[in-house]
Amino acid sequence: MASLLQNTRELKTFVVDEGHGVKGLSELKIKSLPELFIQPIEKRLDMSKVVPYESIPVIDMSNSDDPKVGEAICDAAEKWGFFQIINHGVPLSIIDDVKDATHRFFMLPPEEKKKYLFKNSPTKNVRLVTSFIPEVDTYLEWKDYLSCFYVSDDEANSYWPSVCRDQVLEYLKNSESLIKRLLEALIKRLDIPKLDDKNKAILMGSMRINLNYYPVCPNPELTVGVGGHSDVSTLTVLLQDETGGLYVRKLDSEDWVHVPPIKGSLTINIGDALQIMSNGLYKSIEHHVVANGNKNRISVPIFVNPRPSDVIGPLPQVINRGEKALYKQVLYSDYVKHFYRKSHNGKDTIDFAKV
Ligand code: OGA
Ligand code: NI
Repeated sequence: MASLLQNTRELKTFVVDEGHGVKGLSELKIKSLPELFIQPIEKRLDMSKVVPYESIPVIDMSNSDDPKVGEAICDAAEKWGFFQIINHGVPLSIIDDVKDATHRFFMLPPEEKKKYLFKNSPTKNVRLVTSFIPEVDTYLEWKDYLSCFYVSDDEANSYWPSVCRDQVLEYLKNSESLIKRLLEALIKRLDIPKLDDKNKAILMGSMRINLNYYPVCPNPELTVGVGGHSDVSTLTVLLQDETGGLYVRKLDSEDWVHVPPIKGSLTINIGDALQIMSNGLYKSIEHHVVANGNKNRISVPIFVNPRPSDVIGPLPQVINRGEKALYKQVLYSDYVKHFYRKSHNGKDTIDFAKV
């Protein structure tokens, strides 16, 4: 073990290439964080910038047809880019099942988990990763994740890990009507009255679901769970457990606010694709996960995306109001490729689409 911890290459092989992940490293009960994970100070979250007296909006969705609820969703998307929802209609049992399924997957022995590493996985749609892009990240993030791109039930049944597949699919299916209600509300303010087949395809034509595992970390203050980034989605539906640790940057500010876990709630955030399509009305906000010294944390984001083959840009209805386009038309798969070419670096992905 001493040699493993002293040799960065060996350590990287252990965590990244052998299915151990940072979870496996955490379970060795190491006393101090290996250098490979020590982030430069500017990549860590400066806790002195966290303001305790503010929080993102919490919206009760029980009457989502009520125009007031729609307005609250649009206001939150404009001013915060992030909000929590309660009474959202996704059954608690389905949420609990997908959380259990996430723990089950990460409890698998490394030999089992190894099968889902990109180099071994028979499909590019399922992959187990440590850090964000270990091939590119100079310093690794303290996180393991299984990423599943949804193609069809048949495909999922063939390739997704059987210990979690059914619960993940069930969660995806049960979130669909919520996602539609959120988008219906958001497009109204863009002068689009209805979610029809055409705009549905570009707003929610593909889905990716990740199972995130952030194990207990020695020296959590020296590293990150996820470095500051914005999502490339249209919107993200995030399920977090009761641990906490997600921080959101306040719009046009250096201040950060914590997203406190609320039992049964879901967190919604606007992604770059919707910031682009709304011509900057809705904000894709930088967020950060800190590592935790006492508890393992899981989270499950659903990234609701355009299809890879879609060309996205400010929507015609928005431009028809006389606004000047702030973003170019870009092929969504090019945008996503750009995101996956570089380590997390705040909000810089969107520069790719700026006019
Ligand atoms: C992400 C992300 C937040 C969390 O996976 O993009 O921001 O709380 N996750 O895990
Ligand atoms: Ni994110």
